[in-house]
Amino acid sequence: MIKKLIYGLRYLNELRAFGKNKNIHALPEIFHYWSNTYLLPKLQRFGFNSPDSFFYKYCIETCSELKDKSLIKIISIGSGNGELEVNIAKQLVESGIKNFTVECMDMNAKMHKRTRSLAEEEGVSSYITILKCDFNAWQSDERYDIVVANQSLHHVTNLEGLFDTIYRCLTPEGKFITSDMIGRNGHMRWPEALEIVNELWQELPQQYKCNQFSKKDEINYINYDCAVRSFEGVRAQDILPLLVDKFEFELFLPFANIIMVFIDRKFGHNYDIGSDVDKERIDRIHQLDEAAILDGTIKPTQMLAVMTKSTVRETILIDPILTPEFCIRDPSI
Ligand SMILES: C[S@@+](CC[C@H](N)C(=O)[O-])C[C@H]1O[C@@H](n2cnc3c(N)ncnc32)[C@H](O)[C@@H]1O
Repeated sequence: MIKKLIYGLRYLNELRAFGKNKNIHALPEIFHYWSNTYLLPKLQRFGFNSPDSFFYKYCIETCSELKDKSLIKIISIGSGNGELEVNIAKQLVESGIKNFTVECMDMNAKMHKRTRSLAEEEGVSSYITILKCDFNAWQSDERYDIVVANQSLHHVTNLEGLFDTIYRCLTPEGKFITSDMIGRNGHMRWPEALEIVNELWQELPQQYKCNQFSKKDEINYINYDCAVRSFEGVRAQDILPLLVDKFEFELFLPFANIIMVFIDRKFGHNYDIGSDVDKERIDRIHQLDEAAILDGTIKPTQMLAVMTKSTVRETILIDPILTPEFCIRDPSI
């Protein structure tokens, strides 16, 4: 009963928060400095320039392979305002692929409304369908050739149920394509990462310590649990282990841990991209982050992944060390 009540309250919070938020991906300038300098070259090695174009590439490739099918079915889990889904539709049409639908599944009617308007504005409304549904309770008898989940898995409480349904619905040659956060629940740092953050925090001048959400200086870094009142990162740490158990990875591109503390929305706005000192600070933290991820001291907190049900001969990796299994942070240690 209490569990149901807490779920209901969080559900309402989530509806309210996303219902009024039209631009849910706005990030500080320093984030873009970091991603253009360090993330972009990694993505380009795999033939795409951004997480969005990662989705386009794999949707186009999969649909091209299925060109003789009468209808290719794509579903997006937690589709939000539908920007990615509308753009996937546009990219497919521009590539000459027209035998598809993209079903946008979300619980938020306001976001669905924005999806519909956008699809109309962009001339792809005939390819877009809407499914209002709670992904924690989703069951389906449909078959999908592509399942897309962009930054939504870290809002799921019933990961086991959702992954079972996706597995059942996915065709044998179908792809499950996702970009998401796989760090500690509530986007907290695990102790070994927190130790590094705390050391860096000690040497950080005060102007970089202003939490732009609370507008208060954090003299000591607060390892805040974002999942206390919302679904933000509610079971983020379980995503990768459960995916490894259930799916085969065709591509696995993990990245970033401690750097996120400094460049994300909470503290990232404290940095000036016109300042060499600020950029050098971010460069140094990035180098530390990369080295600690590669030697296994800390685990990556973000990933792009393409998965399937069928046997995969060799997973495409960013580094031979960084397999999905290696990147799992065992919560019992
Ligand atoms: C971080 S947003 C990502 C939205 C979109 N995929 C994007 O990248 O712009 C998470 C989305 O999950 C949706 N969501 C959260 N809990 C849900 C639930 N229980 N069932 C269905 N959708 C849910 C929210 O409404 C929101 O649109």
